[in-house]
Amino acid sequence: MTLRSVILGTGSALPARRVSNDDLAQRVDTSDEWIVARTGIRFRHLAGDGETTASLAAAAARKALDAAGVEPASIDLIILATATPDQTFPASATKVQALLGVDDCIAFDVAAVCSGFLYALSVADAMIRGGNARRALVIGAETMSSLIDWEDRTTCVLFGDGAGAVVLEGQTGAAGILSTKLHADGRHNELLYVDGGPSTTRTVGHIRMKGSEVFRHAVVNLATVMTEVLADTGLTTQDIDWVVPHQANARILDATARKLGLTPEQVVVTVDQHANTSAASVPLALDTAVRDGRIQRGQLLVLEAMGGGFTWGAAAIRY
Ligand code: UT7
Repeated sequence: MTLRSVILGTGSALPARRVSNDDLAQRVDTSDEWIVARTGIRFRHLAGDGETTASLAAAAARKALDAAGVEPASIDLIILATATPDQTFPASATKVQALLGVDDCIAFDVAAVCSGFLYALSVADAMIRGGNARRALVIGAETMSSLIDWEDRTTCVLFGDGAGAVVLEGQTGAAGILSTKLHADGRHNELLYVDGGPSTTRTVGHIRMKGSEVFRHAVVNLATVMTEVLADTGLTTQDIDWVVPHQANARILDATARKLGLTPEQVVVTVDQHANTSAASVPLALDTAVRDGRIQRGQLLVLEAMGGGFTWGAAAIRY
């Protein structure tokens, strides 16, 4: 029997403050019409005092643990995907571990920006199948608002804060992660990056992006990696029940689905409500569609994401 990493439960958390496009139009030269037409975004949640990447991650993790019906003490691996840790070190995963009251487990952060959750999921899956862990918490959490240049209308309307989490357990059977595929191409660093960091400017920096070029790469790379992950499992696009994509732009979701011959109804879309929450976006969308009853046990899910680096990846999961 094949050992696979099964999703026992999902959870998510958002900051209390919800900000509309009209709210942002008070700060920069933009409009609800432009933002909706070009991105599909209507709202984003932004962290306030006391709402940090680790606190949002812990809140999402608690909900995932509840949904899974397991105790925090039974977790032996925590991987937190984030580009916005609470501190440069220690890893925010260890802060989450302390907030959950887990005394001893493996805990570390993964930095792959918007693809971070796919990278973290793939590492957790490998560690479970390799016998290093039995039960894992995989979290994507971000406070992207900390990296935003609020004078730059080309980026400040695009991002939001939040967290999503899954509890994985190694089980033998048909369900679980069937395949993951990851990629990176560092030649494209300058198309999407933060213009600061500890060893260069010694500051945190702000997000900079050549949006239309990122868009073009995203559609091609996402369609290709989804095809790869399906080929690896012997399945086709006909077998997919739900695509759970990274939520950067509704037009990217439409274009990618069209390229693969998928219908818009097969794609989970939350970008209108959450904007781009980077590593949090895939698990946030997953939890939304699990909790509203769209995603059912036994269905085939394809998760995908692409972001700064570039990094990109996909996972095929029998839920
Ligand atoms: O999460 C990682 C992956 N990230 C992404 O996948 C993001 C990918 N890129 C995108 O989503 C889109 O490229 C954007 C939403 C960022 C931009 O949409 P676009 O259709 O590519 O627009 P553009 O950058 O070509 O800009 C068109 C125009 C420009 O004006 P001019 O030069 O044509 O006069 C911009 O200055 O829209 C202007 N513009 C705005 N206008 C009103 C840019 N931002 C805004 C704004 N409000 N917020």
